Amino acid sequence: MAEAGGLRSSDRAGAAPSEDTVLRPHAEQQFADELALLAEHDDRPRPSGWRLSPWAVTTYLLGGTLPDGGVITPKYVGPRRLMEVAVATLATDRALLLLGVPGTAKTWVSEHLAAAVCGDSTLLVQGTAGTAEEAVRYGWNYARLLAEGPSEQALVPSPLMRAMREGMVARVEELTRMPSDVQDTLITILSEKTLPVPELGAEVQARRGFTVIATANDRDRGVNELSSALRRRFNTVVLPLPASTDEEVDIVARRVEQLGRSLELPQAPAGLEEIRRVVTVFRELRSGLTADGRTKLKSPSGTLSTAEAISVVTNGLALAAHFGDGVLRAADVAGGIVGAVVQDPASDRVVWQEYLETVVRERGEWRDFYRACREVS
Ligand SMILES: Nc1ncnc2c1ncn2[C@@H]1O[C@H](COP(=O)(O)OP(=O)(O)O)[C@@H](O)[C@H]1O
Ligand SMILES: [Mg+2]
Repeated sequence: MAEAGGLRSSDRAGAAPSEDTVLRPHAEQQFADELALLAEHDDRPRPSGWRLSPWAVTTYLLGGTLPDGGVITPKYVGPRRLMEVAVATLATDRALLLLGVPGTAKTWVSEHLAAAVCGDSTLLVQGTAGTAEEAVRYGWNYARLLAEGPSEQALVPSPLMRAMREGMVARVEELTRMPSDVQDTLITILSEKTLPVPELGAEVQARRGFTVIATANDRDRGVNELSSALRRRFNTVVLPLPASTDEEVDIVARRVEQLGRSLELPQAPAGLEEIRRVVTVFRELRSGLTADGRTKLKSPSGTLSTAEAISVVTNGLALAAHFGDGVLRAADVAGGIVGAVVQDPASDRVVWQEYLETVVRERGEWRDFYRACREVS
């Protein structure tokens, strides 16, 4: 229970949450009530090491109403089948790879899956070009290593090693950004379910319940291609962009409402109309076609993902709440939209100006938005 100098031990035993002041609670903290409610009603068989049955995990992800009227909010909005495949994969001995373009909720789904399956989403390895093998296997406390030589006490386990020991879900973010040799460290772990520690002449054998959820970005393809040996150890689920404008508006509205609450923004009702406009602009530019299918457009270099739409609207709400009359208006989102679209000052600006003058200007009901964009463009 070390809590020295404001540092909270990340050992599960010491992780007593004080959610009220934490900027971003983990999924299992934020949705503790829903998880408890589901566990109470869940009488289906649970794979060993799981907190909930696959059915309950899926309900946690997609939302639903329980027999006693309890409501589970949807976390993921999209095809049910994808979540069923993801959850079923975790119930086998195969690992799960969530693949997709940026902002398709890969990280989000991975966190919620881990929270629902094992009650802990924090056993996380972040993949970067600089991720070292120690981050995947284990490292050493050098002071102890020098003083005592290699010993169990001098060993610093990676999140993966801890997940194996305790039969939990380990998360690997941005798998394909890691150097290939580091990625390949996962092969033994995933196929043999063991992690040798030659220095101690020992090994850690994974307990039941251990599994890995990795995420990888479609756009990174070719950076560090996943080796075929590793790919075979994963079941891949590709997360799509939201299918329709309505679906995307729904996702953005939900997340903005949640974020606004946790950021303690004065509760302005986020105008659905304004959100719809942001989503429409993003979708049209992303697909290179106006919503009515009549006009072809050039696409800017940025991704214009749902995640970016969420952040444009959240920023807009902060502007409206603190400097406006509390109602989200065109002027509150215009700056954010232009910022998201114009990433490359040269080429994207041309794309944006063309869109503004040929599409936005022609829409009668978008006059306020056109004027607001002209001011910031
Ligand atoms: N289909 C979706 N359902 C629910 N939330 C979504 C969806 N698509 C995107 N989001 C939201 O977008 C945000 C960013 O998602 P994130 O998981 O960081 O994307 P990725 O890891 O795929 O780049 C999250 O806040 C998530 O809630
Ligand atoms: Mg991510």
